Amino acid sequence: MKSTKGNLVWIAACAAGAAMAAFLIWAFAQPGTLGMYRWGYRAPVLGLIALGVLPLVAAAAAEALKRAAGVAPKIATGVAYAASAIALLTALAVAAYVFSNAYGRDASPFRPTTIAPGDGLPTRAVAEGEPTLRIAVSSDGHYGRDASNAEARSAILRLSEAEYRSGRLDAFINLGDIVEMGMEADDWREAIESIRRDAPTLPFLALLGNHDALIGGYARWKAAFAPAGGPSSATGPSPSSWRLDAGRVHLIALDLLWGPEGFGAKEKAWLSAQLEAIPPSDYIVVMSHCFFYSSGYVDEETGMAWYDHADMLREVAPLIAGKADLVISGHNHYMEWIEADGTAWAVVGALGGKPDPAPSYVSPGSVWRNQGVFGRLVLELTPDGLACEFQDQDGSPLFERVLR
Ligand SMILES: [Fe+2]
Ligand SMILES: [Fe+2]
Repeated sequence: MKSTKGNLVWIAACAAGAAMAAFLIWAFAQPGTLGMYRWGYRAPVLGLIALGVLPLVAAAAAEALKRAAGVAPKIATGVAYAASAIALLTALAVAAYVFSNAYGRDASPFRPTTIAPGDGLPTRAVAEGEPTLRIAVSSDGHYGRDASNAEARSAILRLSEAEYRSGRLDAFINLGDIVEMGMEADDWREAIESIRRDAPTLPFLALLGNHDALIGGYARWKAAFAPAGGPSSATGPSPSSWRLDAGRVHLIALDLLWGPEGFGAKEKAWLSAQLEAIPPSDYIVVMSHCFFYSSGYVDEETGMAWYDHADMLREVAPLIAGKADLVISGHNHYMEWIEADGTAWAVVGALGGKPDPAPSYVSPGSVWRNQGVFGRLVLELTPDGLACEFQDQDGSPLFERVLR
């Protein structure tokens, strides 16, 4: 009888520990979770690990005390059962919350008008002097956060929609952090329905940002924003990495959320193969959510440096520098133009997400930067080269460089 009781304590503790471990293994298998942990958001994860281990420690203590005199064995057994119950209920509640949000019914029946990158983008036959290709890029709209600027976000999308309808814009590329909390269906609903209202016909491509991916958000991103065309258009190693050819301009999107976590040998080989295959006289524009070079600040909450991203610069930038003409990213909520290592590096996290603090660190190659103004970066293929112009939310020019 005694040994059955002892076994029951262990069974309860193991069940609780296993439930917590299963949830955490699932969470860390999702894109972005390891990056979130590495970038300082550790407390909830460490709390769940501690809660999962506690019943096992308590069961071991109950086992050790089982021959002790007095009420000690009873108390130890009671504590072990209580710890198991708390851990099991917490694991089940957290999993139920996350799974019902991540995999519940569709956030919205609508989808933006997404492009199939594998089909390419035709350049236009236009009057002399007019651009033959014109693409707008911005990032970090953060739908679902009160501090985001919905008015600026709408203005940028409505301007882009109007330009598309009058034949002056070919596509809009959003570099991620579409929503604030990737696991929240309501954030995705707001994003999809706002985009539908502001830009119902604008051809759209959206990368996966770290906020979009937050614990299970990948499924929501995929349902609404994965490029159109299904597997035939899957030109890269993931739905959020692709190559889009538009005449002499080649856009390469990389799946980089918090940094190079998940960007392994397969992804590097694919990137190198794309860069090799494109004629050197053409324009190569690489895009990612996470920045490489950027001015920035030290985050007060985590103590992490949100500027010149050491891991990205060490592990991914050497594959690109001197080969791509331009790299465009978001993640930092600024607009910036940096020239370094034979490549231009633009940051355009200006689609409405709360502006980051004024930079306390300036990247050595920084040529121009703007904090606090919302807008977009417009790429135009002209006879003179690839013109890159930062504009505010109304389309007024802020800074321009022509890549020749
Ligand atoms: Fe962001
Ligand atoms: Fe981000």
